[in-house]
Amino acid sequence: MKIAIASDHGGYQLKEEVKKYLQSREIEVLDLGTNSEESVDYPQFGRACGEAVAGGKADRGIVCCGTGIGISIAANKVKGIRCSLCTDVNMAEMTRRHNDSNILAMGGRITDTETALAITAAWLDTEFEGGRHQRRVDMLNSY
Ligand code: RB5
Repeated sequence: MKIAIASDHGGYQLKEEVKKYLQSREIEVLDLGTNSEESVDYPQFGRACGEAVAGGKADRGIVCCGTGIGISIAANKVKGIRCSLCTDVNMAEMTRRHNDSNILAMGGRITDTETALAITAAWLDTEFEGGRHQRRVDMLNSY
């Protein structure tokens, strides 16, 4: 599996922790920046991750900003993206099972690293259930 990751300055530290975690699991990482805590604009980075996933350059993506909100909105502007802002493990499992989430969003100023890595693990390892949920995902994809 190849995961695209992106953040703004508010999510930079968390992105780096997520990157280390993914690499420790020998998951290939496509890092789309940002590369420091210098102020940048989250829409640019959320869109880049969305386009990487929608365009097939990565299988799924993970985005971080201060709250996780702005960058998730940006990623969800890209057709085909189902970006889920998660603050706990249950949300991560449910959004994989029911929404076939293809991008995970988290907030570097909201979620501590230990929780964020537990969320990441759950989101990576939970399968989509399909069935009645496939119809609903198809509806999302058609909009
Ligand atoms: C940047 O200060 C902050 O607005 C951004 O990281 C994010 O929280 C936006 O939703």
